[in-house]
Amino acid sequence: MQSVHMPIALYIFRFMSNTNKFLLKCTHCKHVFNSFTEWFEANQKCPQCGKNRVEAHYFTDYSKLKELIYSKNRTNLTIWHYFDFLPLSRSENIISSNEGNIGINHWEFLDEYAKKTYGIDCKVYVYRNDENYATHTFKDAGASLAASVLKECGIDKYIVASTGNVANAFAYYLAKADISLSAFIPIDALKMNGAGVSYYGQRVFRVNGDYAKAKGIAAEFAKKNNILMTGGNTDPLRIEAKRTMVFEWLSKLPEFPTAYVQALSGGTGPIAIDKAFREIEDLGLTKQLPRFLIVQPHRCAPMTEAWERAKKSGFARGWENDYPVYNNPYTSVPTLATGNPATYPIIGNLVKKSGGEITSFNEYHSTDIVRLIAYETQVRIGPASAIALGGFFDSLKKGHFRNGDVVLVNIGEGIDRAPEFFEQLIYTERNIDKVEDCDVFNRSQLRDELWQKIAEMD
Ligand SMILES: Cc1ncc(COP(=O)(O)O)c(C=O)c1O
Ligand SMILES: [Zn+2]
Repeated sequence: MQSVHMPIALYIFRFMSNTNKFLLKCTHCKHVFNSFTEWFEANQKCPQCGKNRVEAHYFTDYSKLKELIYSKNRTNLTIWHYFDFLPLSRSENIISSNEGNIGINHWEFLDEYAKKTYGIDCKVYVYRNDENYATHTFKDAGASLAASVLKECGIDKYIVASTGNVANAFAYYLAKADISLSAFIPIDALKMNGAGVSYYGQRVFRVNGDYAKAKGIAAEFAKKNNILMTGGNTDPLRIEAKRTMVFEWLSKLPEFPTAYVQALSGGTGPIAIDKAFREIEDLGLTKQLPRFLIVQPHRCAPMTEAWERAKKSGFARGWENDYPVYNNPYTSVPTLATGNPATYPIIGNLVKKSGGEITSFNEYHSTDIVRLIAYETQVRIGPASAIALGGFFDSLKKGHFRNGDVVLVNIGEGIDRAPEFFEQLIYTERNIDKVEDCDVFNRSQLRDELWQKIAEMD
């Protein structure tokens, strides 16, 4: 496995050249950028090999990372506790709103369900990104780092193309840094996601087309006006921030997860986890990458289709590049509507390496999932999180969990991201006219009904 720790020659180079605390390295040809300014000036593309993926490497001794993870007297509860291992040089540039200061809950009722229904002994934890202060999604961490780095680089305009949640998070954090954002969202993006950008006085371009078209126009607009645009799913600004979740798992969980469940769109989550895993593996903090059990909504599941194809072919040569592209995918979870899964070659390989699966969940059952979770836990999960939890139930049924598994489900967003969806959750309301119309209500009657729906899911 490729180490991400700094070779000694680079320490010396850094000492001689007086650069800052990190560098960015092309994952393909190892070309080095000494700062984000250099990377941005190169148009976020390696001048040597033309690829567009770099990873950050830090000069700080990595034993400090271990200290930070296990520190007892922690004062900063956000991602910025890991400042020494985030690619920002000066702490005065930090733009922060309590991102990453979120809970990990043990949902024992899911342990019991797995045991009772499938005889599987496992522990199920959930990572509560819905608790992020700014936009209640797991896009807040990346946006915090991006806003901070852009501020440090003196950049005052930025562009994102997004299915919705990234646009919201960037709108908030860039507004905090007084950086102008133009966000390109597809026609079907939730109304709330347009509002969540506009609200902060940032620009929304709602593109008459799908996410791929939104990305295309955003890129043209960026080129025409010479404005920096987000680097997408492998953007180090997003990956480096998101990877801190792995440090948090080590810090807060009694055991490192053996399986990770997440709703899948472009796959920034798994890419970030893999980056962090390589760092902590070198420190001896864990030996095994969690199995990625990642889930797409069934009406927009191109990676699932490609994965099934790859398995059938026995991962025949070139399998990573054999994926479908859906034009104008229609799904009730537009936040996950990535029809052109350009990151599949990366994601497919990560899932294979981890021993995981790419599955899909029948999105028509999303409301059943959300109601059950609200009934049992009073946690208000959003539609993309319903796909992840639906995927959890589905994976149990398909035998993807093992005895002894420590399962971590990423609750990627709260319900307030999707008011239209929230309204669909009403199921106990009765219209009445007189007292005779009212029956005596016993909440416990609902439990069986809710679980019955889970049992009947296809
Ligand atoms: C709530 C939520 N969950 C999951 C995802 C998928 O993230 P990715 O596939 O980039 O890891 C998104 C992406 O927009 C999201 O907003
Ligand atoms: Zn290169």
